[in-house]
Amino acid sequence: MERMQKLLIFYIGSEKMREVAIIGIGITKFGELWDKSFRHLIAEAGSKAILDSGIGGTDIDAMYIGSMSSGRFIGQEHVGALVADASGFSHIHIPATRTEGACASGGLAVREGYLSILSGINDVVVIGGIEKMNDVGGGSATETLATAADQEWEAFFGATFPALYAMIANRHMHEYGTTKENLAQVAVKNHANGAKNPYAQYQREITIEQAMNASPVAYPLGLLDCSPVTDGAAAIVMCAADKAKKYTDKIIKIIGSGQGSDTLPLHGRRDICTLDATVHAAKMAYKQGNIKPSDIDLAEVHDCFTIAEICAIEDLGFVKKGEGGKAVEEKITTLNGTLPVNTSGGLKSKGHPVGATGVAQVVEIVKQLRGEAEKRQIKDPKIGLAHNVGGSGATSVVHIMEVE
Ligand code: COA
Repeated sequence: MERMQKLLIFYIGSEKMREVAIIGIGITKFGELWDKSFRHLIAEAGSKAILDSGIGGTDIDAMYIGSMSSGRFIGQEHVGALVADASGFSHIHIPATRTEGACASGGLAVREGYLSILSGINDVVVIGGIEKMNDVGGGSATETLATAADQEWEAFFGATFPALYAMIANRHMHEYGTTKENLAQVAVKNHANGAKNPYAQYQREITIEQAMNASPVAYPLGLLDCSPVTDGAAAIVMCAADKAKKYTDKIIKIIGSGQGSDTLPLHGRRDICTLDATVHAAKMAYKQGNIKPSDIDLAEVHDCFTIAEICAIEDLGFVKKGEGGKAVEEKITTLNGTLPVNTSGGLKSKGHPVGATGVAQVVEIVKQLRGEAEKRQIKDPKIGLAHNVGGSGATSVVHIMEVE
């Protein structure tokens, strides 16, 4: 009866909406993890998050798992049930659902879990994200990633993701005067942050010269403009905020959640330098949180290629369209800048296990908001944003989190 009343209140909207808190986080090392299986990785991330949260297995109402292409990467589909089983929960028959939205699969899992608590159906959910990409060769990984592009209009003609983002970069340079050096500045910043993250794939700094002169991939993008091919998993535990104190004092609230979609191929877009799915998702999240972009203290954005970070800070409203390159040049987005971006090292340096990325971004924001980001901790952040993109921008998910 009590639950029924809550549902009615939610739908009729006559009382304040339910609030959702993140109470536990877990992540594995990212990299080429030959000695760890898919099962091992997700169980490691999940058990870390559950231990961190203080919940017990029987408290869990549901699981949501983001994985982009486990069928092609490791020959395994049916990932929801597999993860429940690998986590030791098959005997209690927890509902376990996989989400897929290319590289935004993890962000979608976060949002589905969040919505399920908001609806009143669930009180405690575990969200996981995972990809094991290195079990296939580089060519095969590229082909698998390209399944998230439009097959008829893009992949069929050999346009892989580096090529698609290179087109965006060329257009951005042409329209706004963004330079190859601006792209290199993103890579240098993110490697500097990744060097401070013990879970990152590449824990090494690079120089502007190295980034500018790296082997060409698709002009203007070179090797050091690209996120790598990565194995890894991340997990979080979410709980109805009014029940969170039962488990922990470390409570971070989700104050905004948004999602958007767009044309699958780039050519259908109004402007290829703007990811309208991100603009839409961000507007939804800001509106729900009743905040403005200038209220955000730090952001993890989807830098699958360096140009993607420049577009993201524009599309999220942190700077005007066309001024992303300049903002990077002015060091606004460094650890000591006014808006630190990708403190984890981002996809560029931390790595990009595609299904795990959206969850890993939330893990980093929660670490920063709790003051647990060690050498890369920024000063006293209150509000953080995570931004996860699928493909060249056909799916976008934004979450905003705040210290309670
Ligand atoms: N950043 C930094 N270093 C990288 C790297 C990257 N993105 N990718 C590879 N390396 C390093 C490797 O560690 C290796 O170093 P080592 O010789 O010291 O061991 C060296 O470069 C060569 O690695 P290799 O795996 O042979 O590179 P590759 O040429 O096969 O792959 C890319 C490089 C850029 C093509 C590949 O990382 C890629 O496809 N990235 C994009 C992934 C993608 O599209 N994701 C989806 C986004 S929407």
